Amino acid sequence: MTREEVKGLYQQYVVGSYTRDDVVLVQGRGSVVRDMDGREYLDFFPGWAVSGLGHCPEGVVTALKKQAGVLLHVSNNYYHPWQARLAERLSRSSSGGKVFFCNSGAEANEAAIKLCRLYGRQHNRYKIISMENSFHGRTLATVTLTGQARYSLPFQPLPEGFVKVPFNDFSALENAVDEKTVAVFLELIQGEGGINVADKDYVSKLEQFCRQRSILLVIDEIQTGFGRTGKMFAFQHYGLAPDIITLAKTMGGGFPIGAMIARSELASLMVPGTHASTFGGSPLACSAALAVLEMIEKKNLTVRATRLGAYLQKKLVDLKKRYPVIKEVRGLGLMLGMELDRPGAQLVKLCREKGLLVNCTHERVIRIMPGLTVKRGEIDRAISILDRSFQEFVALT
Ligand SMILES: Cc1ncc(COP(=O)(O)O)c(C=O)c1O
Repeated sequence: MTREEVKGLYQQYVVGSYTRDDVVLVQGRGSVVRDMDGREYLDFFPGWAVSGLGHCPEGVVTALKKQAGVLLHVSNNYYHPWQARLAERLSRSSSGGKVFFCNSGAEANEAAIKLCRLYGRQHNRYKIISMENSFHGRTLATVTLTGQARYSLPFQPLPEGFVKVPFNDFSALENAVDEKTVAVFLELIQGEGGINVADKDYVSKLEQFCRQRSILLVIDEIQTGFGRTGKMFAFQHYGLAPDIITLAKTMGGGFPIGAMIARSELASLMVPGTHASTFGGSPLACSAALAVLEMIEKKNLTVRATRLGAYLQKKLVDLKKRYPVIKEVRGLGLMLGMELDRPGAQLVKLCREKGLLVNCTHERVIRIMPGLTVKRGEIDRAISILDRSFQEFVALT
């Protein structure tokens, strides 16, 4: 097949709900992907953070191959050992409690919303507060939870009971809470919203406030989880004890899997009939996730994210000193953003033409989240491409 033939079939048969860059990818390993014409790219935003351990991580590929020859799928009216093992490992490495398995981030948040509503029924409460510029998924409920109206407005009427407040603004939260409030959803680093990091003081006040009023605190770790920020989960930087966390993306190392983890008493509100997922927690998906956890531990990838994240951040700050179009560099570990003083789409294109894939979110924030297995030399190469791209970008825009 040629590149044009692939694009032609997409044009004719694939729903056009994505903006796609003009690249047809066919192979990947670590931080490098190759297109149909044999061109290589350094991928510094692999799979929207799904390929968080790089492309085709060896441990995950081996586990998938092995599991594929043993047992692919078991429905959730039976037990299997891989789900049992994964639930234990996830619970022990996070906030404790019990796990509900699903296949994506939106489904994990959907499960969390339903659990909050079950809890709220006991106290006649149902309202859920989330943050402006947050992103929680694309199902009807999660798009309503998401703090960016452009994603939900075309789908009105929307589910009721979702309230938005500005991020990092404690008084706004205090004022928005009323006797019907049941939960607060928070990304500790807003990813899609532009790499906005929650202040420690704000988070600590928010947690205390929620505790005093028995309001559930739900932390969306879908983008921040699995070592990305230098800890296994971002809430561990804040000393938080969330009631619920939601996970997906890097969790399967490229294989679809998501999860909601809830405090045990809370989780016990979900009984047969309240929630389910046909594909959730299959032997194949659980084997992939177990391999991800093992790789993070064996290769010390959280420590690596801190070390290489600091190195990358310093290099980005050096670029900022030379290119005033860069207003700010921010983030934690290997979850970094550069806010520009103008739209960044052209910069992404220039980088791609020179062999580097990065993302631009919120129109002006260049989002950089390489796989946690990225090498120092690859960071140097990416910085050199960014440097050359900024030179052209400044002249062009
Ligand atoms: C923080 C956060 N929550 C939820 C989601 C939705 O995940 P999914 O696309 O797997 O449904 C995303 C996706 O980008 C996300 O970044």
